[in-house]
Amino acid sequence: MAEIIYEEDGKEPLTIKAEVGVSVMHTLLENGVDVEHACGGFCACSTCHVYILDGGENLSEQEDDEFDRLDKAKGVSLKSRLSCQALVRGGTVRVKIP
Ligand code: FES
Repeated sequence: MAEIIYEEDGKEPLTIKAEVGVSVMHTLLENGVDVEHACGGFCACSTCHVYILDGGENLSEQEDDEFDRLDKAKGVSLKSRLSCQALVRGGTVRVKIP
């Protein structure tokens, strides 16, 4: 059992059931959260940038390609991930779009 808690300023957090092995981006998109994804999830842009507020250990490890792409995103922090590259491994992950 895995879940994503999606937070947006001024709104109630949204709890979404997540499937293990599926990306944060796909899970959000399938549940009506409009995450930008210019390259379609191929780690070739950085528009799917999200902040992982909690539960980063419940996601797949960050690989070099993602790290390089994130370098070009705006507002990058230690909590940043590309949501198309972050696969849910279980547990709860709290996410916010910058
Ligand atoms: S959608 Fe382009 S890097 Fe994630």
